[in-house]
Amino acid sequence: MSDTNKQLQEKIAQAKLGGGQKRIDKQHAKKKLTARERIEYLLDEGSFEEMGILVTHRTTEFGMDKQKFYGDGVVTGYGTIDERLVYVFAQDFTVFGGSLSETHAEKICKIMDHAMRVGAPVIGLNDSGGARIQEGVRSLGGYADIFYRNVQASGVVPQISAIMGPCAGGAVYSPAMTDFTLMVQDSSYMFVTGPNVVKTVTNENVTSEELGGARTHATKSGVTHFTASNDIVCLEQVKQLLSYLPQNNQTTPKMLPYELGEELREELEAIVPDSSNKPYDMHSVISGIIDEESFFEVHKDYADNIIVGFARLGGRSIGIVANQPMSLAGVLDVDSSKKGARFVRFCDAFNIPLLVLVDVPGFLPGTDQEWNGIILNGAKLLYALSEATVPRVTLITRKAYGGAYDVMNSKHIGADMNFAWPTAEIAVMGAKGASEIIFRREIAAAEDPELKLSEKEAEYAEAFANPFKAAQRGFIDEVIQPKDSRQKLLKAFAMLETKNVEGPKRKHGNIPL
Ligand code: HXC
Repeated sequence: MSDTNKQLQEKIAQAKLGGGQKRIDKQHAKKKLTARERIEYLLDEGSFEEMGILVTHRTTEFGMDKQKFYGDGVVTGYGTIDERLVYVFAQDFTVFGGSLSETHAEKICKIMDHAMRVGAPVIGLNDSGGARIQEGVRSLGGYADIFYRNVQASGVVPQISAIMGPCAGGAVYSPAMTDFTLMVQDSSYMFVTGPNVVKTVTNENVTSEELGGARTHATKSGVTHFTASNDIVCLEQVKQLLSYLPQNNQTTPKMLPYELGEELREELEAIVPDSSNKPYDMHSVISGIIDEESFFEVHKDYADNIIVGFARLGGRSIGIVANQPMSLAGVLDVDSSKKGARFVRFCDAFNIPLLVLVDVPGFLPGTDQEWNGIILNGAKLLYALSEATVPRVTLITRKAYGGAYDVMNSKHIGADMNFAWPTAEIAVMGAKGASEIIFRREIAAAEDPELKLSEKEAEYAEAFANPFKAAQRGFIDEVIQPKDSRQKLLKAFAMLETKNVEGPKRKHGNIPL
């Protein structure tokens, strides 16, 4: 081997050590994999091709010219997951805390540019203290270069961000602009400013975990879509998520082989309780309809009065949006509307058909909701579904009341096929509330007002709290028995396979953000 080759091999070996063995040991002590180990675990064995391994930063201030590490704190390149091409970057916390320098940013931008040209997903494994403090504005510019590309790539190729360590400052905004965020419990944090700055500015005492840990962002802010107990589980989740997605917006997700068989599902008959006010778990409707064990729930711990997630139906990847009667009676509120809207827009951008399961008593009333903008936020879900051009199928299992009937993928806002179970109640409001308003005088004048109210309630329910009026008008295509649901939905999605709808010509719509 020539000297030059030997030197090169040494440089590469050094690059693979990141900030050095001691720092790698420290990373392991915190039960974290290193950047390279993460990539190795994520990608198909031997498929990773690294780009820019010998890049170093160009900073001379603060003695930085004497501290150079090959790769400059980020490992970038491409490889395959389940034989599909992906681009990946993994920040290396052992080098200046994974902080982002100008050159570090250039490496990330380079793979993002490749991904957009080629049409393949970008996966970021984030572990970074934010802008490299020694670089000043050059680092800020680097972040902006990435943000700009996040936006250019949005709706073109799937972008996934795994948060696998402390991510502060600029390090949180790029993930926020990608499609999905995953966080590792107890070792990852996301915040714009850490606990020390919070204490200085607002005098609040808060730990990193409380401020921006995985649980906080999964339950309170909704910033993360998934949480994982450790690095390995997180990387497995990335792979699972990817399996439902297409490579880019010009293709469809991979269809798994499926042969039609016995598609009746008797277990669906017993789910909706006799009493209209009793809750039941919409997850059991979902699992009764979809291919076995195929549901991959998104945003599981956030706004659980709506369920969103990916599933397979006859091998086809679909997105499911479903009211959850078990939580707040399945009502639509600010958070559930935002959660649903974001998911719908992702599915629509990436050609994933939508199944909407409806059991919704309406929008949640109250000052809290009104002052937090239920009008604008509820409009997001209405807007997102109205603009979606992917195949859209609705199944009303029970309640579809008021404005929420319109919002939850009604025929009127462009749904393709609308089914209802015989237990469906489709009306402006519940029978009791409706009777109290429209028969107020009659009830007040009655000898026994309570008896009168219950008579009127029954009369109203008979007239409206069923799916038949809607079916007579064609707003429901078919009233079906629960056990037939899977079969009917399989056929509907197969029929809609070649749906092709173009929206009106415009620069972009103006969703009420
Ligand atoms: C340079 C950094 C760094 C940074 C950490 N390091 N962050 N170096 N620039 N931003 C270095 C540390 O000096 C240390 O070096 C090593 O990385 C490990 O950091 P520790 O602090 O020892 O690790 P830990 O205790 O785990 O704490 C991690 C951390 C903390 C929470 C991320 O380091 C931290 O708060 N860093 C600063 C975060 C920050 O304020 N970033 C700038 C945000 S402004 P040695 O040599 O000692 O091992 C920003 C603007 C962009 O990002 C805005 C765009 C919209």
